[in-house]
Amino acid sequence: MMKTTAIVLAAGKGSRMKSNTPKQFIGVKGKPIIAYSLETFEKSSVDQIVLVTSEDNIDRCNSIVKNFNIEKCSDIVAGGSERALSVCNGLKKATGDYVLIHDGARPLVSSRIIKDTIEALKDHPAVVAVVPVKDTIRQIGENGELKDAIERSSLFGMQTPQAFWREKIIEAYDKLFKENADFSKITDDVMVLEKAFGIHAFPVDGEEMNRKITTPEDLAWLKSIV
Ligand code: CTP
Ligand code: MG
Repeated sequence: MMKTTAIVLAAGKGSRMKSNTPKQFIGVKGKPIIAYSLETFEKSSVDQIVLVTSEDNIDRCNSIVKNFNIEKCSDIVAGGSERALSVCNGLKKATGDYVLIHDGARPLVSSRIIKDTIEALKDHPAVVAVVPVKDTIRQIGENGELKDAIERSSLFGMQTPQAFWREKIIEAYDKLFKENADFSKITDDVMVLEKAFGIHAFPVDGEEMNRKITTPEDLAWLKSIV
């Protein structure tokens, strides 16, 4: 039986939220945002949860894990200045054959997404939750001119969890660090496996509700929905 680890990321500063409290700790209906996804992973088939946060929020996370009875949380570790470094610190504590890397800023991940993701990992080394984009997407050129529209039906937004065979994603990060890859251009974990080994992730259905809380508008949406 394969074991699964969820790595929940909560080491960001939330600069676009412009709030004093980092967004993942803002309370919504009496519960910090980070606690929502922790609870969903707790009641899933995941075996271990590793929580990554900034050095100065480790105590705060300890209390949250205790208050919300996140018994599967084995480790609370310090993250890094970049998301990729936070992921790597989490990977060091992960023991599962599979790892699900999740943005702590996506509180409404569903049990269904987690289940489908783990199921797909049986056949694929990399899996990602995706949603079709709703707006028509266009590039704007150097002189501010609109380029041709991109066929919308082929476009999808990448959500998390992004999930991997643990040894493969560790190997991929090691390779890119050795090659001094530019992590400012590698914005998610799916790109890490692509850049390192040319392995594309298998898409599973994400959900509009699994939205990342990034700006005050997203927070207002979350408050209106829970
Ligand atoms: N994250 C992290 N470590 C970092 C940067 C981000 O663990 N060095 C986490 C965030 O806490 C968040 C997730 O990665 O749960 C997605 O990142 P994002 O939405 O960009 O959050 P922030 O980086 O905190 O926000 P911003 O970019 O607005 O500063
Ligand atoms: Mg960020």
